Amino acid sequence: MSNVGVVGVQWGDEGKGKIIDILSNFADVVVRFQGGANAGHTIVAGGEKVILHLIPSGILHEGKYCIVGNGVVLDPEVFEKEVRELKALGYIKDDKTLMVSGLAHLIMPYHKKLDMLKESRGKKKIGTTGRGIGPAYEDKVSRMGIRVIDLLDKKVFSEKVKQNLENKNFIIKRYYKDEGFRPRDVIKSYDNYRKLLRKYTTDTVHFLHKSIDEGKTILFEGAQGTYLDIDHGTYPYVTSSNTVSGNISAGAGVPPTSIGYILGICKAYTTRVGEGPFPTELLGKEGDKIRKIGAEYGATTGRPRRCGWFDAVIVKRAIKLNGIKGLCIMKLDVLDSFETIKICVGYRIGKRLHTEPPMSVGDYYKCEPVYEEMDGWKASIKDSKKYEELPLNAKKYLKRLEELLGVVIDIISMGPERESTIILKNPFTKS
Ligand code: IMP
Repeated sequence: MSNVGVVGVQWGDEGKGKIIDILSNFADVVVRFQGGANAGHTIVAGGEKVILHLIPSGILHEGKYCIVGNGVVLDPEVFEKEVRELKALGYIKDDKTLMVSGLAHLIMPYHKKLDMLKESRGKKKIGTTGRGIGPAYEDKVSRMGIRVIDLLDKKVFSEKVKQNLENKNFIIKRYYKDEGFRPRDVIKSYDNYRKLLRKYTTDTVHFLHKSIDEGKTILFEGAQGTYLDIDHGTYPYVTSSNTVSGNISAGAGVPPTSIGYILGICKAYTTRVGEGPFPTELLGKEGDKIRKIGAEYGATTGRPRRCGWFDAVIVKRAIKLNGIKGLCIMKLDVLDSFETIKICVGYRIGKRLHTEPPMSVGDYYKCEPVYEEMDGWKASIKDSKKYEELPLNAKKYLKRLEELLGVVIDIISMGPERESTIILKNPFTKS
């Protein structure tokens, strides 16, 4: 079975977009299964920079089927903008290649407003992307959500908006003392999205099962990263969906047995955006240097990313959680000029040494990283075409990561372009 899942094993922004873009060449179908427009995949294709928040990155390849799965929370405003921009760039040539699950939940204007209000007025800031993700998933779980299929029926949609606004307006007006929404305005503002989504809405579960039966290859595109997972991340500083590979099954509607290979993506160092614990964060000059060289600013919000050394404790756990068979090391070139490079191999909390991530967020904040230090390679690697061409110390760094993590490295990336990639093993072709 040759279907592949790609997931981030850190705090998101690992560079999944670039790898998914490369691997899309080998897949017939590319599927998003969780998250929403909080993701931001930056791809450099033919010298052109394309940032996708919602539509699977596979859309940049002609003839591939791209699916927004049932586990995604879909913002029709973002969807409409991406379709428009992609069409202007000559991408979506055939509308039939883009499909949206009717079961996906919609992001509504009040979700975005509540996200902002919670962040600005609440006591504990999460540092969300402000895209309404949390409030939309809250509604899904509390069975108040509005799905894409509901939007297609104006009567059903209008009724649901009215019911929802009774509750949302109460909270917005009474609790946050802000301006509420008029049902009429919200209903009307979605009229155009109904027209657009009618074109793309499909029973994607049926399509995927048919594809599996026909022996087509599927690429499942993860968003965010393992430590933003609602269960396994640094709760409450997480996103509102399960980002681990186990959610491919629920979020796309395929059996777990249909996924043959999970590829984990991580940077050669660590970054995170938003609030929350980050044991290996570098607050001084070294962190600034990584941010500058790595251009570490959020693709969705433009926020500067927090930067630090590679944390083998969290990545090792993520490998187990996701069933990672091979790893992809991104942005290795960012470390080119460092005299020495550190890898966190454990945490000290008080006198005790821990080699597993803590369960409580309070303990996470107390973690003192225990580092191994290695010599840097002090050379530019961006033009290396083969593993053998990498400097010895770069190879030593990669080998040490493999030893510490107990997993093989399949792909090494040394720059944003498709060409700056060494593929040791392609998870689709196994070569
Ligand atoms: P939300 O997903 O917008 O609710 O944000 C919750 C947390 O997840 C915040 O810390 C965000 O910065 C983080 N987050 C959400 N999406 C991404 C992403 O694609 N990359 C990195 N961090 C993300």
